[in-house]
Amino acid sequence: MSVRIALLGCGVVGSAVAKRLIEHSDELTERVGDRLELVGVAVRDVSKPRPESGVPAELFTDDAEELVTRADVVVELMGGIEPARTLLLKAIEHGASVVTANKALLGEDGPSLYAAAAEANVDFSFEAAVAGAIPLIRPLRISLAGDDVHRVMGIVNGTTNFILDKMDRTGADFADVLAEAQELGYAEADPTADVEGYDARAKAAILASLAFHTRVSSAEVYCEGITAITADDIRAARKAGLVIKLLAICERVTDEEGSAAISARVHPALLPRSHPLASVREAFNAVFVETQLAGELMFYGRGAGGEPTASAVLGDLVQAARNRLVGRAGPGELAYAAFPIQTIGAA
Ligand code: NAP
Ligand code: HSE
Repeated sequence: MSVRIALLGCGVVGSAVAKRLIEHSDELTERVGDRLELVGVAVRDVSKPRPESGVPAELFTDDAEELVTRADVVVELMGGIEPARTLLLKAIEHGASVVTANKALLGEDGPSLYAAAAEANVDFSFEAAVAGAIPLIRPLRISLAGDDVHRVMGIVNGTTNFILDKMDRTGADFADVLAEAQELGYAEADPTADVEGYDARAKAAILASLAFHTRVSSAEVYCEGITAITADDIRAARKAGLVIKLLAICERVTDEEGSAAISARVHPALLPRSHPLASVREAFNAVFVETQLAGELMFYGRGAGGEPTASAVLGDLVQAARNRLVGRAGPGELAYAAFPIQTIGAA
């Protein structure tokens, strides 16, 4: 017996996950209680050499649709909306648990995928979709489920933080720093998603949905990226003792009629250099969560890159495999409340 794993994608994150699965097979077997067997890796180009992944050539396939039908856990690291959505629904239909890092998909359509997985009684985990290595989804989904979250605010995109930080510290040019972030594996396949704020917007939608037990989609999040920020803006901010950071802010607000509403937004903000978020460097992320009972919590760590993201993916994978061995799935679908979404305007 073994737990059969299908990997969809073998790029920056997928290759780091595959390498760990192969090189640490014995330790993972001990932790899970059964062997994690990599049964296939779907890619677009099967002829591309991928020695860094350690995956034997015969495991690569370009037939992802077939691969998902012979796995117990499908790990989706290909990105994009389609064919990822169709493949995950097919995997769920075949009774497989799902692990994904695909924030673009979850920001657009997360709640219907969570519902499909809950209906099929399989795990659907996505710790890596927001803030890379930082455990943030599980705390919101599980640890804080009995508390009331008032606000989630922070830096959730590593690429833009890397760019703004480097421009601030060295006066470097936007284009050169973006190229460096791409080389380091931080940026999305299309870096427009990072610099225009779309990646942070999807993450804000995921965080708001979990924090407030509601359904917020990417389209409902106000979004402004960093492309209009010039070296002169950064110099002027520095001179005034300020720093520019791209923030995602999701909070409970009261609308004009006095009813509870949600504000979710992504935009650059000027912070005093003494602010805790001002000292977040390179591709690190930091997120504050304010709740009624717990007070203020801060989550900090590496928000992008192959290995940090693989850490979060593998945590989900180990949990999904353990759950399958005992015939359990969790945490299941959340109960949803309906809130009007105020895209911007709250303090
Ligand atoms: P990537 O380096 O571009 O890798 C994508 C992989 O998916 C490639 O191996 C590609 O195959 C494969 N792929 C793409 N479309 C496919 C299709 N239609 N059929 C089969 N295979 C397909 O991307 P990545 O940086 O690893 O990111 C993967 C996912 O993780 C994305 O959802 C991303 O948003 C998320 N994520 C990334 C990071 C990060 O720091 N990079 C952090 C958190 C989350 P080929 O190699 O043949 O082209
Ligand atoms: N491109 C994303 C970022 C990857 O820079 O934050 C991690 O989600």
